[in-house]
Amino acid sequence: MKTIGVLTSGGDSPGMNAAIRAVVRSGIYNGCKIVGVKQGYHGLIKGYMEEMNLSSVADIIHRGGTMLQTARSEEFLTEEGRQKAMYAINIFGIDGLVVIGGDGSFKGAQKLNELGIPTIGLPGTIDNDLRYTEYTIGFDTAVNTVLDAIGRIRDTSASHGRANIIEVMGRHCGDIALYAGLAGGAESIIVPEVEFKIDQVCSKLIKGRNRGKLHSIILLAEGVGGAMEISKEIEEKTGIETRVTILGHIQRGGSPTAFDRILASKMGARAVELLLEGKKNRALGINGLEIIDVDFVDVFKQTDGFHQKTYDLANILSI
Ligand code: F6P
Repeated sequence: MKTIGVLTSGGDSPGMNAAIRAVVRSGIYNGCKIVGVKQGYHGLIKGYMEEMNLSSVADIIHRGGTMLQTARSEEFLTEEGRQKAMYAINIFGIDGLVVIGGDGSFKGAQKLNELGIPTIGLPGTIDNDLRYTEYTIGFDTAVNTVLDAIGRIRDTSASHGRANIIEVMGRHCGDIALYAGLAGGAESIIVPEVEFKIDQVCSKLIKGRNRGKLHSIILLAEGVGGAMEISKEIEEKTGIETRVTILGHIQRGGSPTAFDRILASKMGARAVELLLEGKKNRALGINGLEIIDVDFVDVFKQTDGFHQKTYDLANILSI
């Protein structure tokens, strides 16, 4: 293993830069040449690559986004696109590749392994929707960003005696809503993994109002959708004025938390070690305090991992 490529793919997440830095610095420490691929798989197909040195990754550990840029490539989903990528990989003499991204990016990485290039995946997504790992890089930062927004909305919610629905990201995974809701003391948390009953939400709001509560925060995962309709229904059923805030991409930006920086640094260095040990087709994760690595095949097998106990606890604490 002489030359290692690194790319970020799919939606960016805070901590991706810390991961790139760790791959570059630990790779160079171990005597490797590191090639940075710009714009994810799109850049891999186009050959947007350049050698990185120690200075290339200076002053990035604290920055959100990804200095390598990212993309969602339609062409890479085709066999022809992947063949073009392999051509570029060979031209640049890449012996192993580190892919930082979510499940779609991992599927691409698995295909590259099949075509003969050893690949290691780092879970970079705010969604926390990869169930083989307890945390993905960027999730903790996104939860803290939502928490900050909850605090601000609570101020205005209490001033007007309103209910506020806050829609957060996460595609089909409710983890951002669940964890930000628990940490932020939300009255209700609505996620795709649990059947949603409007009457339960309304009954909590009415009980809260009757005992003098001035504000109500409802966290809604985007996978459930229908924020405006839910808000209208709440107003009709409870008579409580209800506002909607869709946080959107604000959750994806910002300086990564210490947790995400440390996770990304450990995983980036471990990815280099695995490639040097001759490993391939593996995804990195965290279990407790331990960094683990799992075959991509097992990554895609684990789809059910919603933390029901945490959801139940949030419900109990918001009675
Ligand atoms: O996967 C990360 C994510 O931020 C999801 O939470 C969200 O649904 C999606 O990406 C948004 O994608 P885009 O940036 O392409 O609008």
